[in-house]
Amino acid sequence: MSSKVLAFINFKGGVGKTATVVNIGATLVALHERKVLIVDLDPQSNASLWLMRPDRWREHVARGRRSTFQIFDDALQGKNRFDFDETLVRGVVTWTGFTDLPRLHLLPAAVELLRIEDRIHELRASAIYQILDSTLGTQFKQYDYILLDCPPNLYSTTKTAIFSADNCVVPYVPDYLSLSGFQVLAEQIIEMREKFAPYLPGRRKPNIGALIVSHYRQSGNVFRLAVNELELSMAALRETGVLPDSAILLQPCIRHCVRVAESTSEHLPVILYAPGSIGAQDYADLTQRFVDLFEGKK
Ligand SMILES: Nc1ncnc2c1ncn2[C@@H]1O[C@H](COP(=O)(O)OP(=O)(O)OP(=O)(O)O)[C@@H](O)[C@H]1O
Ligand SMILES: [Mg+2]
Repeated sequence: MSSKVLAFINFKGGVGKTATVVNIGATLVALHERKVLIVDLDPQSNASLWLMRPDRWREHVARGRRSTFQIFDDALQGKNRFDFDETLVRGVVTWTGFTDLPRLHLLPAAVELLRIEDRIHELRASAIYQILDSTLGTQFKQYDYILLDCPPNLYSTTKTAIFSADNCVVPYVPDYLSLSGFQVLAEQIIEMREKFAPYLPGRRKPNIGALIVSHYRQSGNVFRLAVNELELSMAALRETGVLPDSAILLQPCIRHCVRVAESTSEHLPVILYAPGSIGAQDYADLTQRFVDLFEGKK
């Protein structure tokens, strides 16, 4: 199977980008025997903190050295200090102290990434876009899935992720105010596709492949109505060519689940923390659809 590089994006914060990356990543490994690389590109380092614990993470990424920051810093300084094998975190340490999910790998982020956005304009646009591809492209080939966890914005770091990706996945919380944000996001991707085109000859340009709804609550009608609105909006955006025909709302919606929230501070994906929870069940069902979609069995 060829590697699939997927950028998880939304300029809205707190919509479940990291939760989706961590839990789909873990479920792909646990239930589908896929090999997965999570690339944390967010200075908040939430995916890294979730999967590593703060003390281990702090020690590992000290001064940003063994983190994705080094990739960008190298590009700015014209250096070659990023070491993939040294930076890579393999598997998840469980309560017993043993490592589980050995085929789930992580390139952690560091807060130093915050500095990148201020300096990256020193580079040519083409160099900015290609930073991840040129540093990690060869390494990506050993994985079935590469999941890029992006910060809640569409600045340069996110642009490099979108440039490297075969597809974008948009985590989304169904409420009225998010809808117009999604339309803007879809339009922004179209603009980026045009900007990227000259640098991607013969390669597929990134587009929105799927939306994933998180924090879904079944009480009342508000969420059901908001998901209906989203589907109507997606249909309208497909009509006008802003969204590709293939873009789908991936089912099921991930319900709000206390076990998922708790699993962050236990530093485990929900499939290890609470395998019997509705969160683990929703992610298992969603990941099956995810595999069907991205491996062409839709
Ligand atoms: N299904 C869920 N049920 C309960 N809590 C959840 C669920 N999914 C995510 N959360 C919690 O919601 C919060 C926001 O989720 P998450 O960090 O994944 O969003 P994000 O889009 O990555 O945020 P940011 O934009 O800051 O990167 C987190 O504290 C997470 O633990
Ligand atoms: Mg996040």
